[in-house]
Amino acid sequence: MTDHVAEEQFIRSLRPKSLEECIGQSKVIEGLRISIQAAREREEALDHVLLHGPPGLGKTTLANVVAYEMAANIVTTSGPALERGGDLMGILTNLQPKDVLFIDEIHRLSRTIEEFLYPAMEDFVVNFVIEKGAHARTLRYQLPPFTLVGATTRAGLLSSPLRERFGIFHHLDFFTVEDLIRVVKRSASILEIEITGEGALAIASRARGTPRIANRLLRRVRDYAQVKADGTITDTIAAEALEFEGVDSRGLDQLDRDVLQTIATVYGGGPVGIEAVAATLNDEPQTLEEVVEPYLLKIGFLTRTPAGRRITAVACEHLGLVLPEKSSRNQGQLFNDGNAGVRERGNAD
Ligand SMILES: Nc1ncnc2c1ncn2[C@@H]1O[C@H](COP(=O)(O)OP(=O)(O)OP(=O)(O)O)[C@@H](O)[C@H]1O
Ligand SMILES: [Mg+2]
Repeated sequence: MTDHVAEEQFIRSLRPKSLEECIGQSKVIEGLRISIQAAREREEALDHVLLHGPPGLGKTTLANVVAYEMAANIVTTSGPALERGGDLMGILTNLQPKDVLFIDEIHRLSRTIEEFLYPAMEDFVVNFVIEKGAHARTLRYQLPPFTLVGATTRAGLLSSPLRERFGIFHHLDFFTVEDLIRVVKRSASILEIEITGEGALAIASRARGTPRIANRLLRRVRDYAQVKADGTITDTIAAEALEFEGVDSRGLDQLDRDVLQTIATVYGGGPVGIEAVAATLNDEPQTLEEVVEPYLLKIGFLTRTPAGRRITAVACEHLGLVLPEKSSRNQGQLFNDGNAGVRERGNAD
């Protein structure tokens, strides 16, 4: 069994099944609870749901929870997997009333498939053309009322006609440390791992606000505790294990640190475009934008300006970086930007 497969099974075993079991995301959970109860009382399919947010915050989990709560089946596919209209046609015509069709990475649907989806979402019909040329005829095929759940890390990349066809729209935000402590404790109890309160805090505070990462770190720390100690996860063991894994006290991994370091040392603190940073690191701009950047922005380690990304004073302090001389004039300004970034987020909450 490859490590990837093992990881997948592990993640699935920890996935909450019902709304009741979900931790955190209180606004999203409450919103879904109301929509689902209303739909159930009217004996209707739930409105189409669009979930967006950074990776690992629970989009796939929630799609499954929606189906569970609606007592319906779920069919899972993804934007890149749907190549031809026929692929989607086959799936749609097999749906039962109120079933959930989950399309992951929905921003990567092809144009053709998108246009196929519009009438399916709006009127529960699909139109398909049989024969060609002068004999071409369009057949309308009536579908059962179903719920499309779309997930995306990049809501901005969705075309507006597609976005407008969703009735329910939820943004998933990073988890608080308190919620991640609950995630870690829940997973530890499912997996029968001994962990102290401080041990759970040590993992939660290094999980980048992300339940998937919390669960992954728990797995790493469990191995370490078993081999290096008596199997119980304490804060000392967790800190040691995670340092060994290259995860620092704020939960940053090597790639996070490389990005910050590059902006600071190669680009004098910024502003710099994400493409330039990606090119320097020989990595994909998309990975940096979807996986690395959101959390660094969230904790005020980066700011985004029209001219590009800048590193902040707090980030430099955390990494023990001193910006090159040339930007000493900009540094005061830079540090102010950093603080402003943190304040803005504080206000937004
Ligand atoms: N609300 C929650 N409460 C407890 N655990 C959660 C919650 N949401 C997600 N998790 C945990 O986090 C893991 C990752 O969640 P999930 O796979 O749903 O993320 P995702 O948003 O679909 O990520 P990606 O964008 O990478 O596909 C799950 O296995 C689950 O254990
Ligand atoms: Mg997913």
